[in-house]
Amino acid sequence: MVVSPEISRYNAEATREGAWEAYVQADRVHRTLYTDEQVFNEEMVKVFGHTWVYLAHESQLPEPNSFLSTKLGLRPIVVTRDRHGDLHAVFNRCAHRAATVCREEVGVAKSFQCPYHGWTFKNTGELVGAPWPQGYGADFDKSKLGLGKVTRVQSYRGFIFGTLSESAPSLPDYLGEAKPWLDYWIDRAPNGEVIVRSAAHRMGYRGNWKLAFDNGGDGYHPSFSHRSLLEMASRMGDSKDMSYFGKTPDDGPMKVYSLGNGHSVIDQRPNFEGPGSIWANQRPQPGREKFEELIRSKYPEDADRLLDVSAGAQINLSIFPNLLLIGNQIQVIEPLGVERTQLTWNATSIGGVPEEVNTMRMRTQEDFPAFGEPDDQANFEEVQRGLAVSEEEWILMNRGLNVDGWQTMDENGVIVTAVTDEIHMRGYYEEWLRLMNGEAK
Ligand code: FES
Ligand code: FE
Repeated sequence: MVVSPEISRYNAEATREGAWEAYVQADRVHRTLYTDEQVFNEEMVKVFGHTWVYLAHESQLPEPNSFLSTKLGLRPIVVTRDRHGDLHAVFNRCAHRAATVCREEVGVAKSFQCPYHGWTFKNTGELVGAPWPQGYGADFDKSKLGLGKVTRVQSYRGFIFGTLSESAPSLPDYLGEAKPWLDYWIDRAPNGEVIVRSAAHRMGYRGNWKLAFDNGGDGYHPSFSHRSLLEMASRMGDSKDMSYFGKTPDDGPMKVYSLGNGHSVIDQRPNFEGPGSIWANQRPQPGREKFEELIRSKYPEDADRLLDVSAGAQINLSIFPNLLLIGNQIQVIEPLGVERTQLTWNATSIGGVPEEVNTMRMRTQEDFPAFGEPDDQANFEEVQRGLAVSEEEWILMNRGLNVDGWQTMDENGVIVTAVTDEIHMRGYYEEWLRLMNGEAK
């Protein structure tokens, strides 16, 4: 693993280097991975630093000199476009005495002036100048006092990722078998254009960040955790969206795919048959009937396709460590502390469709974050509460392990299995272990 000198210095403080196998076993992980602050601090350096981490979507930085403040683990960073439109990410940390130089969430700026003592930096990081330079000696070298940089920043079809590792594979290689699923999600827009809407839906929970990732690929919980939502859907008709989770889902056509590099996906699409079926099985939405009438009368040839893209994508794609595509939403996991996490849902519109479709997509995207996600977050907090029992040491992830007839592997090494298999956890912990052990690809 080749990393910048700053990062190597922190590595020296590692607490369990090389000994993580005791904490991550084939079928279980140790509770302290969710409760120990030292583990968390190490994750923030190694997991959120030595692999590709999702930072932002390009549509949030639409023009030259746009910027967006975010984080890489705990490190505040600013993702910027320079005047030519090229992407960068710099540490939001003044070279003088460490204050953040950018305090805005988004905007347009050619440079940032640190509010503390006025040092000014270009949006590519170089120090432009410090006020009253006569106060510095001859050894004051502006060229060495720029903002630190996230050394690798790359975009895949609008999704911007960054890493501090020089030895991580290319971003397309890292995405690997997740790429076709991401492509499907993006290509629901006829012109491939995805637009993140301006305001985000944010929710914090008192629990470790991995609880959200444990849940992203979990097809076991919906029938229990989202019972009230499913019961409401059942009252509206037998096959409404997600109600199939309640009927021995392992016997149904839905599958979970373990995609490698910690990524996984639940494919709900096989529950739907033929054009218009995704739309027909949506839960109730305000204005739904009028909308369908309008689309069918205005675009009779294309109505089923337009109605289907007005509903959710019907996949749950988890890209390790912090990106979850759920329905039409981009959800970002932001660790704040060992027992404190923020989830940000960004609603999306798509290009190449009539505006009415995007209006209905917004209604669709009000559904699950409001009615379903609070169930999940309640579980995350209750797991964290349960983890306080220090005498009970293990979290199990053994469902589907060694079960005859569940798993098959394709020629690319992708494992397909029953939707309640906990393979998504076993898969990402393999990647977690590799990163925490400092092993190169
Ligand atoms: Fe930024 Fe002093 S901390 S100018
Ligand atoms: Fe859920």
